[in-house]
Amino acid sequence: MVVFSVVRKETKPIEGQKPGTSGLRKKVTVFKQPNYLQNFVQSTFNALSVEKVKGATIVVSGDGRYYSKDAIQIITKMAAANGVRRIWVGQNGLLSTPAVSCVIRERVGADGSKATGAFILTASHNPGGPHEDFGIKYNMENGGPAPEAVTDKIFANTKIINEYLIAEDLPDVDISVIGVSSFGGPEGPFDVEVFDSTTDYVKLMKTIFDFESIQKLLASPKFTFCYDALSGVAGIYAKRIFVEELGANESSLLNCVPKEDFGGSHPDPNLTYAKELVARMGLGKSASEVEPPEFGAAADGDADRNMILGKRFFVTPSDSVAIIAANAVQAIPYFTSGLKGVARSMPTSAALDVVAKNLNLKFFEVPTGWKFFGNLMDAGLCSICGEESFGTGSDHIREKDGIWAVLAWLSILAYKNKDSLDGNKKLVTVEDIVRQHWATYGRHYYTRYDYENVDAGAAKDLMANLVKIQSSLSDVNKIIKEVQPDVSPVVNADEFEYKDPVDGSISKHQGIRYFFKDGSRLVFRLSGTGSEGATIRVYIEQYEKDPTKTGRDSQDALAPLVDVALKLSKMQEFTGRSAPTVIT
Ligand code: G6P
Ligand code: ZN
Repeated sequence: MVVFSVVRKETKPIEGQKPGTSGLRKKVTVFKQPNYLQNFVQSTFNALSVEKVKGATIVVSGDGRYYSKDAIQIITKMAAANGVRRIWVGQNGLLSTPAVSCVIRERVGADGSKATGAFILTASHNPGGPHEDFGIKYNMENGGPAPEAVTDKIFANTKIINEYLIAEDLPDVDISVIGVSSFGGPEGPFDVEVFDSTTDYVKLMKTIFDFESIQKLLASPKFTFCYDALSGVAGIYAKRIFVEELGANESSLLNCVPKEDFGGSHPDPNLTYAKELVARMGLGKSASEVEPPEFGAAADGDADRNMILGKRFFVTPSDSVAIIAANAVQAIPYFTSGLKGVARSMPTSAALDVVAKNLNLKFFEVPTGWKFFGNLMDAGLCSICGEESFGTGSDHIREKDGIWAVLAWLSILAYKNKDSLDGNKKLVTVEDIVRQHWATYGRHYYTRYDYENVDAGAAKDLMANLVKIQSSLSDVNKIIKEVQPDVSPVVNADEFEYKDPVDGSISKHQGIRYFFKDGSRLVFRLSGTGSEGATIRVYIEQYEKDPTKTGRDSQDALAPLVDVALKLSKMQEFTGRSAPTVIT
């Protein structure tokens, strides 16, 4: 057995290692600077309680983006030196973010060991490659992202770090081969176990969904299906679940081989970046001439996000979570005994609120960031939650879950079509389900405008101005009257602040809100996940209860409100931008 020794390496603090909403995300070139990754990893070990490090089992894997393989070897050597007992690595270093959460919660090692945390190597939906982004975040024992108390401690540690521990003579482990490599160190044995990246996750999905009914749906000639992993890690799960387990045709998978640079594309499942899928589904400027499939979906790089499409039809993420919540008890075995509660992030539309009210469910509105849902779930208060940012999930794990969302939709389709798969009955489509939902609950017209990579100072000034003008709503309403006299007046405005009902912690400045008399709403926020400059997000929402008016094109319906948003924020004046980078 190889015996390794521990080296203490001198280092100095490096500026800017503050983890954002979902870990530390920077350009690969930044991560490759001497000691950059090492400082962050050691600062994380130092922030954890001793028993979460010494003798512990820690998962290290990610979406397979460029630099992951190097990072896995570095982290493994540092873990060994810090007294970690074993490292679990998904084969080839691949585990989707939801699969990591599942592995922490569910996987039991041959000797009964359980993981207490994970380093997830991903920058989620940001592009990958030598000149693009890398990222690292730490998840805790519940399978969810480290809470702010921990990330604050990590950041504080990065500012005072003076040494890190590493087992330099530990050989690199071949992470392409399943098996255990055992070593000995000053504190005893150390193992690296490489395991199949999909097994634990597939097992969990089978306890949640009725695979047989989904199989029937996929086997029906009336139903056609398409899934785009955008060359991210979702591809390995899609192959395993949709093709091998559920019998979908291999040709229904697009970009399902994970690539270090996501094939040069932006692995974000939205109408702008999921170009190929959008065209195949008959949407957008380059819509395919061929008859589109009945159902299409996409994932981001680490497979926690999802986009759901019907034939020539886009389902907004805000509607998606509301529809899943409305149908879960009937369509998904995991929820048969009822929902404990539902939750959405603040900028997400109020479609879910209406469902919660109608079904008499506990309801929570939390700041942007999945970790806020985790607290509610740990306390047994929330079963289903979602965000406008293409994240949907449930309390089966503590991350949002892109494949889960697709299985949830397939379950609903299977349920709604249980009598129409055979014979002459017409298929109930994705569009039918959404329109039926609007007819029952009303429709929340919704759109988001993103201004990416804006000068950080300009973005700050724009936000400060939006807060400033909140002090005089009569002035605000004067502006509105001038630009769009038909838009109803603002009756309330604030900055969103959240008190966590479980731990009492308070999160301030979580987005600037304007509420209109007719129930419309504008929200302005700075993204917490970018890696360059600032990204301004404008969320625009309008509620329509009248079933005869729920069928309009959303950009048309929202045009006056969008105009108000841009004028109120003086978008062009502050940023120089005449158009957003992305509209969703
Ligand atoms: C990540 C988090 C989500 C959050 C999103 C917001 O994906 O996991 O929970 O909604 O970032 O991103 P933003 O760029 O708007 O801060
Ligand atoms: Zn992601």
